[in-house]
Amino acid sequence: MSIGLSIFSCTHDKSEIYKDPEAPISARVEDLLSRMTLEEKVGQMNQFVGVEHIKTNSASMTEEELKNNTANAFYPGHTEKDIIKWTEDGLVGSFLHVLTLKEANYLQSLAMKSRLQIPILFGIDAIHGNAYAMDNTVYPTSINLACSFDTAMAYTIARQTAREMRAMNMQWTFNPNVEVARDPRWGRVGETFGEDPYLVTLMGVESVKGYQGDFNGTEDVLACLKHFVAGSQPINGTNGSPTDISVRTLREVFFPPFKAGVKAGAGSLMTAHNELNGIPCHEDKWLMTDVLRDEWNFKGFIVSDWMDLEHIHDLHATAENLKEAFYQSIMAGMDMHMHGLYWNEYVTELVREGRIPESRIDESVRRILDVKFRLGLFEHPFVDEAQSMTVRLCDEHRQTALEAARNGIVLLKNDGILPINDQKYKKIMITGINADDENILGDWSAPQCPENISTVLKGLQQIAPETTFDFVDQGWDPRNMNPKQVELAAAKAKQADLNIVVAGEYMMRHRWLERTDGEDTDRSDIDLVGLQNELIQKVAASGKPTILILISGRPLGVSWAAENLPAIVEAWAPGMYGGQAIAEILYGEVNPSAKLAITIPYSVGQIQMIYNHKPSMYFHPYVDNKPSKPLYPFGHGLSYTTYEYNGFKLAKKEIAANETIDATVKITNTGDRDGVEIVQLYIRDRFSSATRPVKELKDFARVSLKAGETKEITFTITPEKLAFYDRNMQWTVEPGEFIVMVGPSSADECLMTQSFIVK
Ligand code: BGC
Repeated sequence: MSIGLSIFSCTHDKSEIYKDPEAPISARVEDLLSRMTLEEKVGQMNQFVGVEHIKTNSASMTEEELKNNTANAFYPGHTEKDIIKWTEDGLVGSFLHVLTLKEANYLQSLAMKSRLQIPILFGIDAIHGNAYAMDNTVYPTSINLACSFDTAMAYTIARQTAREMRAMNMQWTFNPNVEVARDPRWGRVGETFGEDPYLVTLMGVESVKGYQGDFNGTEDVLACLKHFVAGSQPINGTNGSPTDISVRTLREVFFPPFKAGVKAGAGSLMTAHNELNGIPCHEDKWLMTDVLRDEWNFKGFIVSDWMDLEHIHDLHATAENLKEAFYQSIMAGMDMHMHGLYWNEYVTELVREGRIPESRIDESVRRILDVKFRLGLFEHPFVDEAQSMTVRLCDEHRQTALEAARNGIVLLKNDGILPINDQKYKKIMITGINADDENILGDWSAPQCPENISTVLKGLQQIAPETTFDFVDQGWDPRNMNPKQVELAAAKAKQADLNIVVAGEYMMRHRWLERTDGEDTDRSDIDLVGLQNELIQKVAASGKPTILILISGRPLGVSWAAENLPAIVEAWAPGMYGGQAIAEILYGEVNPSAKLAITIPYSVGQIQMIYNHKPSMYFHPYVDNKPSKPLYPFGHGLSYTTYEYNGFKLAKKEIAANETIDATVKITNTGDRDGVEIVQLYIRDRFSSATRPVKELKDFARVSLKAGETKEITFTITPEKLAFYDRNMQWTVEPGEFIVMVGPSSADECLMTQSFIVK
């Protein structure tokens, strides 16, 4: 597909190397750079929010608010006219949150009026599909995807998202989020790949590859690894609060997905809101220059996050004013300012004053221009509106969204009531805030056309047309549930054969202040919000079987339900076909296979609760209520069939530190349904010079098995999987015993063990 309309054609002056598509990119970059004024260079390093937002806000806000409100007015004291003028003057390198192709083409046409006609790079948070804009495929969110352990699917989704983005003239996704999520209070868990560094790394790498393709054309987009780093273990669970984390933990847990993403060629990276060990990440030279550039050889550009350069001054207070904040950040390694005023003025001043060498600015501009050339923007700045919808929401992409949802929904508990027997249960009462709501799309999604959303109710009606579904509406807002509707559901539950409660969190960002989960929506509890527990308990009191479906971004400590209900499904935010996928699982048309990519604790007091903890974590267990165990462990997930593991063996008893060793296990599908089993391999270094986790996921396989079928799986354990940072922070394999565990979950009782010696 090539849906770009060419602009430069063949008419350029031959001396203008940068306009010559045949010239090497490095030559084009250097030629263009040599023609740019300092103002134009600094402008390339700046990004603004699209003008439509500003127009909308200008229409709804007072003069006074527009002047002073930085959250919604964006650029107090300025109007869209200023942005238009700056773009025409070539002083804007990028826009974000441009939500329509029409606006993207329009802004691009302004850039084409500028002296050098440098095209705009459009950035958007296409986190699970380009869902933030209308009429695009909405795939399941990352936490759901991670639970499928399906790295090939991560690639496919990213690839398709890239095509849909380019069909909207957007070329830069602020994804993948490769933070290792270690606190379920944090509202952004749903946009991560969970708590395990190995799984996050693989998912992140495949996403980068999918987005960027060969990073050389009109079907590729720029990926952005974010947020660097460690904001996923915030000190109090809230987004952007301080993190205080040892270099050892950074290197063992939080760095690996970023390092691997850089190695996979990610072209951009976003720094984190938080301070790390006393230094705001946005001005941390150690992170941005020493680690990223010097150690990992990162070639892309670094972008700041929303207002975080401003926050160096007005929040962290490590710079006395904004100009100083810009100075500190650029000198630490920053390349692009996400958005905000005064950048162009202050940064050009800093160069003219001799504080920032122009060569430092050139470095950043080179990196940004390089991306624009690679993505073909100079040749194809516009996209044809007529062709756009042939790509977006096409059948192939819809099918992927459905397939991914089927693979990412976790069956947490089943006493045998599932799959639903449609002969026995002919009248079903369905209720709960997520029973019939677009919230199934998840965070980072705009409301989409209802005909493109399969809610749980719709999915059930489609799959069981003979069954009567009695829907009791609880509204969408968990914090404002109507007690009368709860009573109504309780009464109707008695008349039903079976009840389904679809509970969880509210994540849609257009209701920013009302939602309970998502970015900047952190909680001091992980139980269900509002009257949801009461609803579940009252419905269950009917004496009729009651099933719980959860739609959420974060793990929820639903311990009452776990003890008292026969079945629980965690669907996360399964995207536009989520309802259909849930219904197919409930009725057994799809055999669930997903496994938890994150631990579900009983309660908030157990946090931090992760499976790969250090040996002394529960030396003195909690004395109150629950044991020092999770409600559901990492790796857990049920199926409608049963699997047996046999004959687990290692190929050798001893190896040298630079050798590999094979671990083999046989898995048999002992039930009567075909299925996919996610086989997990964990390793523990038994004695080590610095403490090691009790187990770490080091490999896994999605194995499809027909009923009765047996397959043998071999995992090759490489030195890389045994190495760690020793007492002197040297990356090494230490001699001694290693324990290898294989099984269907991280829980000790599910794992078979063997050990070997490294000589
Ligand atoms: C988020 C980023 C996001 C940016 C632009 C920030 O608030 O932290 O993840 O990419 O907004 O939408």
